[in-house]
Amino acid sequence: MLGACGGDDGGDDDGTDPGVTYYQDVKPLVDAKCVGCHSADGIAPFPLTTYEELVEMAGVALVNVENKTMPPWPPNPDCNDYFADRSMSDEQIALFKAWVEGGRLMGDAATAAPPLDTEQVRLTRVDKTLAMPVSYTPQTTTDNPDDYRCFVIPWTETTNKFVTGFRAVPGNTRVVHHVIAFYANPGQVAEYQALDDAEAGPGYTCFGGTGGSSRAWLGAWAPGSLGSDMPAGTGLLVEPGSAIILQLHYNVLEPGPTPDLTTIEMKLDDTVAKNAIIQPWANPNWIDTQLMHIPAGQADVMHSFEFDATFATGGPFTVWSAALHMHTLGKSAKASIVRADGSSECLLQIDDWNFHWQGSYALRQQPVFNRGDKLRVECHFDNSPANQPLVGGQPRVPQDVYWGEGTGDEMCLGAFYVTPL
Ligand code: HEC
Repeated sequence: MLGACGGDDGGDDDGTDPGVTYYQDVKPLVDAKCVGCHSADGIAPFPLTTYEELVEMAGVALVNVENKTMPPWPPNPDCNDYFADRSMSDEQIALFKAWVEGGRLMGDAATAAPPLDTEQVRLTRVDKTLAMPVSYTPQTTTDNPDDYRCFVIPWTETTNKFVTGFRAVPGNTRVVHHVIAFYANPGQVAEYQALDDAEAGPGYTCFGGTGGSSRAWLGAWAPGSLGSDMPAGTGLLVEPGSAIILQLHYNVLEPGPTPDLTTIEMKLDDTVAKNAIIQPWANPNWIDTQLMHIPAGQADVMHSFEFDATFATGGPFTVWSAALHMHTLGKSAKASIVRADGSSECLLQIDDWNFHWQGSYALRQQPVFNRGDKLRVECHFDNSPANQPLVGGQPRVPQDVYWGEGTGDEMCLGAFYVTPL
């Protein structure tokens, strides 16, 4: 049967093409890709939850979407594929552009398109909730909106447990930018208590890590995340008498006191089929002998290391997720497996490093690391005058930088969630 109007342009009843509209095309996209942070109580500075809110920001939003600064999703897509990829496809970007440039039409709320499937994972069961010991008000200024603070939370279980899922629940979603839970084993707890006691106020200042000897992670959280279970059958061992060192990164963009009391929720099991570790790896020489030198003024300083990582696990292992870590001079980084035959498999590549958007990325297909393979981590740093952290509102004068946990130091770490085969 022939239609009343000749074209098959998907036009509506009266024969006119409704074009790209908010309710039919753009809202599902923005809800999936932006609203996790751009909501009334989210970490982003303005909400994008209604037509009016989006229209007001449409121009600047298009700029950020086209240059891919929004939504923040640092991994290079040519390196590997990850679960819950937040980035926008070229088609989605084109659709958003067509809406912004095509009159920002509202469409019909009554026939709004259903939400996109975002593959959003979540923590499926909460067995234990732990909170910061007391609430804390981030100490920030307009010139320096960031405060990194660690809190020591005693672990109260009396038998061995495995953490099989993790989520952080920010007390104040306006200011909690990311949360990392580190694990201090029973032998390390006193060291952290001393760090806490040495500084006035709740917790203590920490930046690149915990400030102590633990580098083991239990979990990490960033805005928009509902937490997640560990891969089925795997978990991280937590012993009685240990502690969790909770690192909070506060980013305060608006004036006024912003107290926070963040909690973490965990799924626990008594046994798991495979005992996992999240072990950040670096070249021990950088840490012990300060060989990771980043000379003042140089715009591209590369440091890399390669080693057979099976020494840490005692044999071949599966890699489930990958993360990279540098500080503010970091430019780009890459983690890969160099196979015994010389071929290379990319795990994670970040071309435009931004300390604010650190994350751990769950690999859609999990490579196996065999004996004879090498884990390779490569970091590039820019220590030129144009890329200096602000100190008191002014760019720092470039200085020689070495390995360390402070804001003025640097790191080059690859962190991987792995289980033995
Ligand atoms: C993971 C959290 C997150 C997601 C997801 C996110 N944003 Fe943002 N956005 C932020 C934060 C935080 C800022 C404040 C600036 C900063 O820290 O980079 C921001 C800033 C912006 C800005 C202002 C940039 C400027 O130049 O001042 C725009 C526009 C924007 N976002 C649009 C979007 C759009 C559109 C989406 C979805 C397609 C999105 N954002 C997704 C967190 C997010």
